[in-house]
Amino acid sequence: MSNNLPSYLDISKDINSDLSNAIETLNPDKIAILVDENTKKYCLPHLHVSIDTLIEIQSGEQHKTLETCSHIWHQLTAIECSRKSLLINLGGGVIGDMGGFAASTYKRGMPFINIPTTLLSQVDASVGGKLGIDFEGLKNHIGVFQDPARVIINTEFLKTLPKRELKSGFAEIIKHALIRSTEQWEYLNRYSFEEINWDEIIPKSISIKNEVVQEDPLEGGIRKVLNYGHTVGHALESYFLNSKTPLLHGEAIAWGMILENEIAVIAGLLSKGESEVINGFIRSVYDINLELPAYELLRSHLLQDKKNDAQGIRFSLLEKIGACAHGVLVEETVLKDILK
Ligand code: GLY
Repeated sequence: MSNNLPSYLDISKDINSDLSNAIETLNPDKIAILVDENTKKYCLPHLHVSIDTLIEIQSGEQHKTLETCSHIWHQLTAIECSRKSLLINLGGGVIGDMGGFAASTYKRGMPFINIPTTLLSQVDASVGGKLGIDFEGLKNHIGVFQDPARVIINTEFLKTLPKRELKSGFAEIIKHALIRSTEQWEYLNRYSFEEINWDEIIPKSISIKNEVVQEDPLEGGIRKVLNYGHTVGHALESYFLNSKTPLLHGEAIAWGMILENEIAVIAGLLSKGESEVINGFIRSVYDINLELPAYELLRSHLLQDKKNDAQGIRFSLLEKIGACAHGVLVEETVLKDILK
């Protein structure tokens, strides 16, 4: 499988050299860096770049809000950033999505560079230009599509992550294989999680996503396959967000994929045999037990999914390993049955 990476993305062996080249090309009048308390401590010391301001926000999905965005705009305004200034987003998906959104809307748009530091953000949020914030408890409810000036990925940052966080990102790698690439699926099945070579697998995974995004950048159709596992997954993630045991995004997606495979079997799209093989693989990686909430408790979250229309809840469901359908209408009776 040859790699098909976006033109704005570097798989970097030398973060400082690639960052300084990108800055030289952009030639900004001011530079701000956005971090959270984790990336300030573990990642920022690796960057040698002179900046005009450091903007710090609190980590976590619960801070991906309009209030935090206002704080970023306020800081950019305080040092008189212009449309020729640059915001460098150093962090995971929340930093990239929200920092990118803040930059894209500041004075109608200033350039930004994303340096994704988690596996999840390196393989998913790094490609496809989706930016935004959560609103009234709804994930990514307010946002825009806009590509960064540059994305610089360095797998050294993954060494700072706990295993649970790495496994969370791995769910998106599994998803990319399942929706489009039997070759990548076979690769995943050849190695245990501990044996995975990130430098090899990340570019392959990004290439699969990029191929889909190039076919349908604004998600009019085929890009919806990237939401496989996410309809149920997002509902579970939202439901557990304020519980004592919140799920990481990838953990929710892992469960979403398992449950959506069961839905695909009932819908007559996926064979029971293949569903069992896939679900067995996912369970072997995650070893997670989850007390599923009753359908009624997830219903309001499912109804808010961005892929829905007036006819009902629409899913992206596997047809087989390497092929995914989208826009599949699923009756609520089926959902009630699966989510018992
Ligand atoms: N994370 C799904 C997408 O970028 O479309």
